[in-house]
Amino acid sequence: MPNPADAQADLIAILDFQTEAGVDVALDETPHDRFTEADAPEPVRARPAPRRAAAPAQAPSPPPQEAPRPAPRATFGRAASAEPEAAAGDARARARNAASLEELEAILAAFDACPLRFTAKNLVFGDGNPQARVMFLGEAPGADEDRIGKPFMGRSGQLLDKMMAAIGLDRSSAYIANVVPWRPPGNRNPTPQEVATCKPFVERQIELVDPELIVCLGAPATQTLTGTKDGILKTRGRVFPYALPSREAKLLATLHPAFLLRQPLQKRLAWRDFRAVRAALDGKA
Ligand code: URA
Repeated sequence: MPNPADAQADLIAILDFQTEAGVDVALDETPHDRFTEADAPEPVRARPAPRRAAAPAQAPSPPPQEAPRPAPRATFGRAASAEPEAAAGDARARARNAASLEELEAILAAFDACPLRFTAKNLVFGDGNPQARVMFLGEAPGADEDRIGKPFMGRSGQLLDKMMAAIGLDRSSAYIANVVPWRPPGNRNPTPQEVATCKPFVERQIELVDPELIVCLGAPATQTLTGTKDGILKTRGRVFPYALPSREAKLLATLHPAFLLRQPLQKRLAWRDFRAVRAALDGKA
């Protein structure tokens, strides 16, 4: 039997390890053995009860304090490998149905095939002016964005605001969104599967904003929208054509503000790109 001091030291070591690995949310009170769950037969999903039009005979019970969050779906082992195609197809069908940004946001809020939604506090849909001529696109929200429910609110967002201000833009003249609208836990990168599931939504969001110019901040946004595999130091400053139903927009790749916070010397490259954004908006490029 380990002595209590050793057991406590072991527990602290495990918690330290998890914190360093990026774990920052507790999903449940009790631990789950996901390996056993992945081997278990798939549960039969209950069909939703048909809606009743008639008024209830008894007094209705008081509404819950908070809308219940859908139960997390297992995304491990066999279940995970069977679902990605279906999730992306489902996302495409739903995104197509959105006739406005408000509808798209509501559809996303009800979409439960991306596991990130179960660990995020908020859906981070978009911010700024939906009529703007320019749309900035990041990768995924971080902790500040998740808490507030808007993109680019933390240190990266403050730098982005300054960079936009330097070329005469702000959130009333630009629209801002992310490829993935939920924060990946612990700020890890979204997986390719999560990106593929969310991609139809961001593509529809871009169609509905219908900007003349899309500015991709960093490699993930650039790669997702252009299909290039090149890194951002190769693609930054490049303009790609981006087909929208109404026009051929321009897509410009540049460095992500988070990268610039770590590598301030690279701001001179970003400044070049932002001047190109200004020139494009002024019809000079
Ligand atoms: N980084 C992003 O890519 N998006 C945000 O909203 C915040 C930080």
